Amino acid sequence: MCGIVGAVAQRNIVEILVEGLKRLEYRGYDSAGVAVKQDNEIKRTRKVGKVSELVGALKAEPIDGFSGIAHTRWATHGEPTEDNAHPHFSNDKIAVVHNGIIENHEPLREALIKEGYQFSSETDSEVIAHLIEKERKTSSSLMEAVLSAVKQLDGAYGTVVMSMDDPDELVVARSGSPLVVGKGIGEMFIASDQLALLPVTREFIFLEEGEVASIGLRDVKIIDRNGNAVEREFEESTIQHDAGDKGTYKHFMLKEIFEQPSAITNTLEGRLNEESVIIESFGNRAPELLKKIQAVQIVACGTSYHAAMVAKYWIESIANIPCLVEIASEYRYRKSVVLPNALFITISQSGETADTLAALRLGKEKGFLASLTICNVPGSSLVRESDMAFMTRAGAEIGVASTKAFTTQLTGLLMLATAIAQAQESISKEDIASIVEELKHIPGQTTQILELAKRIELDAEDFVEKSHCLFLGRGDLYPIAMEGALKLKEISYIHAEAYAAGELKHGPLALIDHEMPIVVVANNDDLIEKLKSNMEEVRARGGQIYVYADEKCDIKGSDNLKVVKCQSGGNYTSAIILTIPLQLLSYYVAVMRGTDVDQPRNLAKSVTVE
Ligand code: M6R
Repeated sequence: MCGIVGAVAQRNIVEILVEGLKRLEYRGYDSAGVAVKQDNEIKRTRKVGKVSELVGALKAEPIDGFSGIAHTRWATHGEPTEDNAHPHFSNDKIAVVHNGIIENHEPLREALIKEGYQFSSETDSEVIAHLIEKERKTSSSLMEAVLSAVKQLDGAYGTVVMSMDDPDELVVARSGSPLVVGKGIGEMFIASDQLALLPVTREFIFLEEGEVASIGLRDVKIIDRNGNAVEREFEESTIQHDAGDKGTYKHFMLKEIFEQPSAITNTLEGRLNEESVIIESFGNRAPELLKKIQAVQIVACGTSYHAAMVAKYWIESIANIPCLVEIASEYRYRKSVVLPNALFITISQSGETADTLAALRLGKEKGFLASLTICNVPGSSLVRESDMAFMTRAGAEIGVASTKAFTTQLTGLLMLATAIAQAQESISKEDIASIVEELKHIPGQTTQILELAKRIELDAEDFVEKSHCLFLGRGDLYPIAMEGALKLKEISYIHAEAYAAGELKHGPLALIDHEMPIVVVANNDDLIEKLKSNMEEVRARGGQIYVYADEKCDIKGSDNLKVVKCQSGGNYTSAIILTIPLQLLSYYVAVMRGTDVDQPRNLAKSVTVE
């Protein structure tokens, strides 16, 4: 959840570290700090709040150095205070930044206190600094000390260590939290996400679980958890250079909403034939595996879980095989049944979500036929640990609220349902061709729907003073309603819930009065008449309804029913297209309420702790 940057160079690296933090701020943003080696001591500046606070402090009192580490924090242990902000020191000799959670920090802390170490924070992370300082006294190198120290840790860590006694060197260790090494000319960098380092390098090594690396000016030495040397080459990054910039948009979220036509074009590129899906898009083994599977199990969290729920409707209706869907944090901790010849699928924007990764590891032990991840980040843990990967190619998503990641996941999942049906010959060639036709139209239709932004901004005005909101949908639009409710609550802090519209009279109808806005998503499908009856039930009780509907739906506006008609695509792609008005609605409501749209309170982009 936190962001980490480090550098060893022959020039002042403070600006590089701070720029890296700015680019990582989406991961965590309650405090930030930097430490550099300067004149035989380690200088440190830490500030509560966003990276801009740290920038102000560094302007007022500059520090500089040729090697250093920096961190932006999302608090787990200890409130966001200056003392709890990273880097943490031990005896002014060791400085450490950490991402993750050390589960056995209490016994370690007690033992270290008994040995005379003084703690100055409430964090779990500080034990790492003291343990390394202790181990360094008896180790021949900083790397050996770090390896000995991390062997004593339970939990998750991505950590970078700087030592006063070890010039031109940083040592890093990874277990459960990603780290990437970047190479410059006579300088080397480290970060929790390659995005942080794109201004200085495009050559990266992704560290694997359990590895420890020593980073010098010109070389990187990697060992595994048993101390064996590991050889790995630098790889050229495929991420766009300007990925971390907002351009002329007011917020990353708005930029990312408007990037959806091109993001979806990228998702589709080279993966469709004239009238079919190229099954190998899901991996070389996909033709053979997708033919064999008899069931699908999907696990994911948050928005990605909503994508999984939509996929259930599609896989069961298009491919005609059972599809089970579960929240990863639940799946990983309960006994579940593995259906014969089942494919295990994870969906994740970041590829680093701790619960989803743990669920994948569990799934691999449980005897699934194979694993597939639908993911946006190349080289991420889910991609590396799955048998097959389908990259959504949405480009970097910085806004905490997931937008283009979701619609590209849905695009990939509709292709997957079709690819399974194709491999198993479970629907006709004509039906496959018709879905492929729908897929090809998504970029154009998303472009058209974005033209409704001004109209949706008008609806948003009605929500600004509200405290609660309901979202309704039926069929594959029910999970879209859930996603709409999640977007509204996470960025505008308005309490929002979603229901399958048929459930209304089983309880939630009691909530309806003239203060309650109800957002409905509607497609012109078999359920439209039933949905209209559900809306009548709401109207009769004074609720104010806002409908985002396919243009073919026969729904007329009235006093307490506002309708925005959209060209929403076909049978399946409506779910993708009708997501966009809900994203825009939440965005405008949040802007009008003055919340922090890109970095909403208490949240972080990449949830690498459980
Ligand atoms: O990176 P992931 O897709 O695995 O993240 C899962 C959730 O944390 C994420 O989808 C979250 O719910 C969204 N950012 C909310 O907009």
